[in-house]
Order: sequence, then structure tokens, then C-alpha cells
Amino acid sequence: MRSLFHKTIGFCLLGVAVVSCNDKEDPNYQYMPDMYESVGYETYGEYKVFENAQEAKLPVEGSIPRGWMPYDYENSAAGLANAKANLNNPIPYTQDNLAEGKGLYTIYCAVCHGDKGDGKGILVEREKILGVPSYDDAGRAITEGSVYHVMYYGINNMGSYASQTSIEERWQIDHYVMSLKDKLEGKPEREFEEEQTSLLPSRADANIYEDAGDTAAEGTTENNQTETQE
Ligand code: HEC
Repeated sequence: MRSLFHKTIGFCLLGVAVVSCNDKEDPNYQYMPDMYESVGYETYGEYKVFENAQEAKLPVEGSIPRGWMPYDYENSAAGLANAKANLNNPIPYTQDNLAEGKGLYTIYCAVCHGDKGDGKGILVEREKILGVPSYDDAGRAITEGSVYHVMYYGINNMGSYASQTSIEERWQIDHYVMSLKDKLEGKPEREFEEEQTSLLPSRADANIYEDAGDTAAEGTTENNQTETQE
């Protein structure tokens, strides 16, 4: 009788000892764990096999996203001087580009620079911002290159427009700003150029599903098709 009592106590203690080692945070024995744990990596998951245990990686250095082109002039006074002297507007001075530029200028720039580019926008008249120059300011002597540069990086009190506008849109605004400058200086209007196919990536190029035949010249599309079929 006594030994049965001891045995029961013994079994109970053993049972407690076994159960107390159980960690609720850890899964218990699993039958075919593949069924519970996905073998594939989650996009932002943490896995020891990766550097910093991070599955999501930065793009390789030098990667260029679709629809974007690197801008080689640095954000400094020297970069601005360099762009002022050497950077030219790559898109033709056409009626369409100027009209687009005017629309975008009215949206983004006119509040400060004024519809005429004389630095008397509505925010200046209401004294919300100071020091907005006129585009014919002789001391600044803006050029196509410098206008693009300040739109890209901003300058002092003026912010960058790189995130709101595409490359092509900035060059369209640029044409319009230079036309305002000419007007302020009393120069004759510049003659329009012939339309040509733009070599710049536009927002539309970022859409990889779009039918390339819509934008490319017919001849080139056919060539591309034969190339891929071979
Ligand atoms: C919030 C007001 C504001 C807006 C909006 C604005 N600018 Fe400016 N801009 C300024 C101010 C202020 C300066 C003078 C900055 C300085 O040099 O201190 C300036 C300077 C400039 C200059 C002369 C830069 C130089 O080389 O000295 C150009 C060109 C220019 N802006 C173009 C633009 C264009 C194009 C847009 C629209 C895409 C625009 N700005 C939008 C406030 C503005």
C-alpha cells in the first residue's frame, strides 16, 4: 500500500517535471513541418541567411529604375555653374512642348515667380515669401541648364521639383521659362522647331505592359519583333 502511494507521488512529480519543461513560445513536435512553415521567404521577412537578416535588399549600386535617368550634375554651387554653362535642353522647341510647359509652369512656379516670370507671384504680393528673382535678373543670368538644375535640386528657399515632375516635363517648363525671360528682355519670340521623336524616358515608358507599337515608329517595332523571334 505504502509503495503504491510512493509510486503515485513519483509519477505525479515526473509528470510535472515533463510538463514544466514545455515552452509555450516554441512549437512542439511537428509532423511534417513543411505543412506549417512556408519554405519561401516573405518579402520583408527576417532570415539569418541574409545580410542583416533582412530579405528585402537595396538595389545593386548603379541600378537605374525604368523611366528614370541619372542626373550627372552635383548639388553644389560648382554643379550649378557647370550645368549653367554646359547643359542644354534636349527636347525640341515646339508649340506643343511650350504649351505643356506653360500649363506646368502655371501649376508649379507661377505662385512665386508670377505668370510673366517677373518674380511677382501671388505669394510674393502677399509677402508670404521673399527674394523671388525676375527671370531677366542680370546677376543670375539664367540659362536652360541652370533652370533645369534648380528645378532638379531646388535652391535656398525654393524647393526641388524632381518628385512632382518627370524629366520631360521639367524640360518643357524650362522652354517656357526661357521664353518668359526673352519676353522680359524684349527679345523677339523664338521660332518653333520640327517635332522629333523624344529620346528621353517619359512616365509612359515606366509602364512595361503598354503596347510598344503605340509609341515606337513602325519600322523599329518590326525589327524588334524579328529579333525576339529569332
Ligand atoms: C515657393 C516659391 C517658389 C516656387 C513655387 C518656385 N520658385 Fe523658383 N525661386 C524661388 C526663390 C525664393 C528663388 C531665389 C532662391 C535664391 O537664390 O535664394 C528662386 C529662384 C529661381 C531661379 C533662379 C535660380 C538661379 O540660378 O539663381 C529659377 C530659374 C527658378 N527659381 C525657377 C523656378 C521654376 C521653373 C519653378 C517651378 C517648377 C519655380 N522656380 C518655383 C521661389 C520659388
